Amino acid sequence: MRKLLNKLLVKFGLLITKAPTLLSDKSLAVSDAFPTELTEKLTVTEATGTPENELFDIFAADTNVHKWHHYFDIYARHFGAYRNRPIKMLEIGVFRGGSLRMWKDYFHPDSTIVGIDVDKSCKDHEIADRNVFVRIGSQADPDFLAQVNEEFGPFDIILDDGSHKTHHQNISFGALFRPALKDGGCYMVEDVHTNYWIKHIDSEDTFIDLSKQMVDMLHEPYFNRKETHFRHEHPESVKQLELSYLSANLGGIAFYDSIVVFDKKQRNLPKSELR
Ligand SMILES: C[S@@+](CC[C@H](N)C(=O)[O-])C[C@H]1O[C@@H](n2cnc3c(N)ncnc32)[C@H](O)[C@@H]1O
Repeated sequence: MRKLLNKLLVKFGLLITKAPTLLSDKSLAVSDAFPTELTEKLTVTEATGTPENELFDIFAADTNVHKWHHYFDIYARHFGAYRNRPIKMLEIGVFRGGSLRMWKDYFHPDSTIVGIDVDKSCKDHEIADRNVFVRIGSQADPDFLAQVNEEFGPFDIILDDGSHKTHHQNISFGALFRPALKDGGCYMVEDVHTNYWIKHIDSEDTFIDLSKQMVDMLHEPYFNRKETHFRHEHPESVKQLELSYLSANLGGIAFYDSIVVFDKKQRNLPKSELR
């Protein structure tokens, strides 16, 4: 019922932020098949201490940056492999500039860090002589994103920490994943907990909804197929398939609390072997 009301509100362009609190109530929606042992309520307590990793130390040494503590292990896991060479990173959402400096200090010193923001004052956070650049425009404007890609891209890492509006996250991913992210690159969307907060939901499908669809797209090669179609040297094996761009270029998706990560990787058809 709530979903239907939300859809109607979105459809008729009503301000979702004005929606009654009732609509923002979120409860676990699991199917009857979901194991009940796993939905039993347990008490979870406040974290003690701070993350133990180098990036957190860089974060803690500066100011004017806003990140959740539990992100640091996720950053280290997904960004660690990019540290030993100069990279190009695009961060959507500059705010007070602290995160741009944090990335600059974390990655190879010859890396280029580009931040984009709608707030014109963010331009003050550009440090051109350190290859930290800021461009002003909206993450929901594909022409602006194309210009940024033309000027600086393609990127090794794209991090969406912008408006956290669901339609903005959707537009940016659509406009950037294909042209602006290198093969072997990483696209991270953070703060996706906002996809469960009514004031950020301004599209029929949230970014989390699209991400769940992308889990299916990752498995697109298997649609209407059977295992022998992929078996090494089997007479039924297929030599080529028509796949969507995303499926043909998605190495994997990782879901965390508030973060979704997409590894871009040009794929071959999956192959099984019976020995
Ligand atoms: C969460 S803050 C960014 C925080 C920063 N990355 C950090 O870690 O400290 C979000 C930023 O997104 C910007 N923003 C809001 N709407 C935007 C849009 N449509 N396009 C680009 N940036 C936007 C805001 O001006 C704000 O500076």
